[in-house]
Amino acid sequence: MYAPTSAVVTLKPTASTARPAIKVNQANVIYPAADQPVHALKDINLTIRQGEFVSFIGPSGCGKTTLLRAIADLEPITSGEVLVNDMTPSEARQAGAYGYVFQAPVLLPWRTVLMNVMLPLQIQGVPPERCDEIAREQLARVGLKGFEKKFPWQLSGGMQQRVSIARALGFEPKILMMDEPFGALDELTRDNLNQQLQQLWFNAQRTMVFVTHSISEAVYLSTKIVVMSPRPGRIVKVIDSPLPAQRTLDIRDTPAFLQLAAEVREALVEGHHDH
Ligand SMILES: Nc1ncnc2c1ncn2[C@@H]1O[C@H](COP(=O)(O)OP(=O)(O)OP(=O)(O)O)[C@@H](O)[C@H]1O
Ligand SMILES: [Mg+2]
Repeated sequence: MYAPTSAVVTLKPTASTARPAIKVNQANVIYPAADQPVHALKDINLTIRQGEFVSFIGPSGCGKTTLLRAIADLEPITSGEVLVNDMTPSEARQAGAYGYVFQAPVLLPWRTVLMNVMLPLQIQGVPPERCDEIAREQLARVGLKGFEKKFPWQLSGGMQQRVSIARALGFEPKILMMDEPFGALDELTRDNLNQQLQQLWFNAQRTMVFVTHSISEAVYLSTKIVVMSPRPGRIVKVIDSPLPAQRTLDIRDTPAFLQLAAEVREALVEGHHDH
């Protein structure tokens, strides 16, 4: 039987030649406050190319969520520029470019699990039978087959988060934004979903922007890792991954993986000492 060699796999068109999907130029976000304004993001410059899997990693409060929200048109920037497919974030949002998984799952309590996943599809005008079919498929994918008729409040926090992942995946957005989607999950479920997300990215060629606190998760999933530091939130280092595009969890034991993880850790420590 033919099995692709790693040499073949790495021949996948590299993201470095792809068109930019997201451009952030000299962006600043300052939150007004009665006592002292919070400079949440300072002079952020970043290019994310189509088909890249980019992770933001950094200590709590360094502005990861703020940066994700600024890109997704959920937070206005104070100065600078954000472009998404050469459009403003607002235009991109109206064009349905984004799927967004929030740090805490945001589900409608009066809708069943299945109806929650169907919602964005219904808004897009997808025929009802197809909505139902896609929603069931996505729920099975995140391990929630059999829970379609439950309400969100009947599920654990981790299960609710998986419903919101299924919802974001269902309508096949060009850009999938995920804010610590796996933070509330146990290690094995997290491994499992990491693997599925990696495969999904590899097969679907979508642009992923992902926030995590886990070095190993960032290294396993990403083609590019953006290391951030707090007060004010800055990018300390952008690391392009040399790992092949197609990965299994075993890759975490390889020297290349461990070396990359060490590089991310060093950048985090460096950012921590800087301010
Ligand atoms: N709506 C807001 N109003 C005022 N300050 C805010 C607001 N949202 C965030 N901040 C502040 O901006 C900074 C960055 O917050 P942000 O939520 O982006 O951090 P984060 O990196 O996502 O942290 P965590 O890892 O804990 O989720 C923090 O100092 C926070 O207190
Ligand atoms: Mg956050």
